[in-house]
Amino acid sequence: MNKPFIYIANWKLNVSYAQAQEFLTIQDNLVHTNKQIIVCPTFPLLPIMQQQLAEQIQLGAQNCSNFTKGSYTGEVDAQTLNAVGCAYCIVGHSERRTLFGETDEMITQKVALLIKNNITPIVCVGEQHKSTTVQTQEYLAQQLNKLNLDSYKQNSLIIAYEPSWAIGGGKLPDITDITTIIEWLQNYCADNQLIHTKIVYGGSVDEGNIVALKQIASLDGVIIGSASADFQKLINIVSL
Ligand code: PGA
Repeated sequence: MNKPFIYIANWKLNVSYAQAQEFLTIQDNLVHTNKQIIVCPTFPLLPIMQQQLAEQIQLGAQNCSNFTKGSYTGEVDAQTLNAVGCAYCIVGHSERRTLFGETDEMITQKVALLIKNNITPIVCVGEQHKSTTVQTQEYLAQQLNKLNLDSYKQNSLIIAYEPSWAIGGGKLPDITDITTIIEWLQNYCADNQLIHTKIVYGGSVDEGNIVALKQIASLDGVIIGSASADFQKLINIVSL
């Protein structure tokens, strides 16, 4: 059997408590053989999701603190995320980098704390502006080289290629360009012996482009942002 294709639903701040409860009533429609589903709600929704999520669907957080404990008002630590059932956590999302000032140093610390707490980091990288694939590769190499990932050769990681300019706007890059970048990322991981690392794509994934994306042989999965808050769309994307 082929390895399961991964679908990460990044709900951002788009799914309310009431909608999350509605999700729990339709979640069985997302369960398919050979497909891995990871749902990433806001922090307060994590415990209720942990209690009621189908066994085949996994839970992820959208962020975590780069601190473990102390006077850091509003922060949530990786140990607590593990305790409420998170198996995954998104880090370094472009919205966190640009809107909340998250730096490569903070992302490096977050990755270390997640690994320490048995949570698989979903590390987001991607260029700010539409560029040539060669420019993108140079940019990604710079981003990745700062994150100390080669300390985690024995650990599971997910690297998410998310071009900032493609997020939220229905602007999918050319499939050939995505293919080139995903293959480059797979080679980067092989060169750095990151043998347990999976590569996913995120940015304007929807019902209209998922079939083309799944044809990229080297792609392990996708992150679905806006479309994942519309549960019928999410069901359609996962079933295609
Ligand atoms: P989008 O977001 O699907 O709305 O483009 C993807 C993401 O930001 O993870």
